[in-house]
Amino acid sequence: MKQFFSVSNVDNLSAIVKEALEQKKNPYALRNLGQNKMLGLVFLNPSLRTRLSTQKAAINLGMDVMVMNMDKDGWALETRDGVVMDGTTVEHIREAAAVMGEYCDILGIRSFPGLKDREEDYSEDLFNKFVTYCNKPVVSLESATRHPLQSLADLITIIEHTPSGRKPKVVLTWAPHVKALPQAVPNSFAEWMSRAKAEGLIDFTITHPDGYELDEVFTSGATITLNQEEALRNADFVYVKNWSSYKAYGKVLETGTEWMPDAKKLSVTNSAKVMHCLPVRRDLELASELLDGPNSLVIKEAGNRVWAAQVVLKRMLINMV
Ligand code: CP
Repeated sequence: MKQFFSVSNVDNLSAIVKEALEQKKNPYALRNLGQNKMLGLVFLNPSLRTRLSTQKAAINLGMDVMVMNMDKDGWALETRDGVVMDGTTVEHIREAAAVMGEYCDILGIRSFPGLKDREEDYSEDLFNKFVTYCNKPVVSLESATRHPLQSLADLITIIEHTPSGRKPKVVLTWAPHVKALPQAVPNSFAEWMSRAKAEGLIDFTITHPDGYELDEVFTSGATITLNQEEALRNADFVYVKNWSSYKAYGKVLETGTEWMPDAKKLSVTNSAKVMHCLPVRRDLELASELLDGPNSLVIKEAGNRVWAAQVVLKRMLINMV
């Protein structure tokens, strides 16, 4: 594996989940694989889980890690080509990425979308330029349109909690929020779950209010309904997430609070397990009674971020020897 940006970088989902769960059982078995290899993690936005789980995964593999909080500690970055840099930006991504590539064997980068210009965000200009100029394997730590390490951890969690031979019903439901959030997590979840459906691992349904349709590039193969109760019926896993509108790009449309999943809403499910990528706003996005209840998987899901990162780094390291 030379790059980890989307589900298209993985050829067999069952195989990568199996490999990740093997590492979970025996985390330090490949301690020598990453010896004398440096991982650089570049953050242009905040993070708790991605930052710590990826560092832990690298350390489990014997790698060294450097973290650059570009948003706080780096020079203001210019990403446009052909501009005279006489404004606030100080360093061009051409030099910044190339220099980081000199110091590191693998790089990871997190960069959120601006949510103002859909074409610009969906072109993944910053991520693509970073890949081009650093000249090293790159792991997405969440880009403008996708969060693949999260989606892989989500799939690991679903497979881990599904009795063998069963094909669970997985439902992605939109939930309310006060801020405009990116579509990266739901896009990515939809893309990975649609592939998992195509590989016969799960059934997959998406539900959201009118106006919150995701880009069809990510949702082809999913059952989509505006009726949340119908979607939740007989669900085995309910994945809760807010996102801003893709159509009315980056806008928070009027929806009220009635879309927030709570115990009453989930009474029509098959005692569904509850998932969320975190951070979550309690009793706005998701009811506390579910987060704190026996069917909540949110902490185990966050724990599985380590094994998602570890299997990806392992595959990149093996590719180098
Ligand atoms: N789920 C997730 O990516 O969490 P962080 O933003 O804290 O890394």
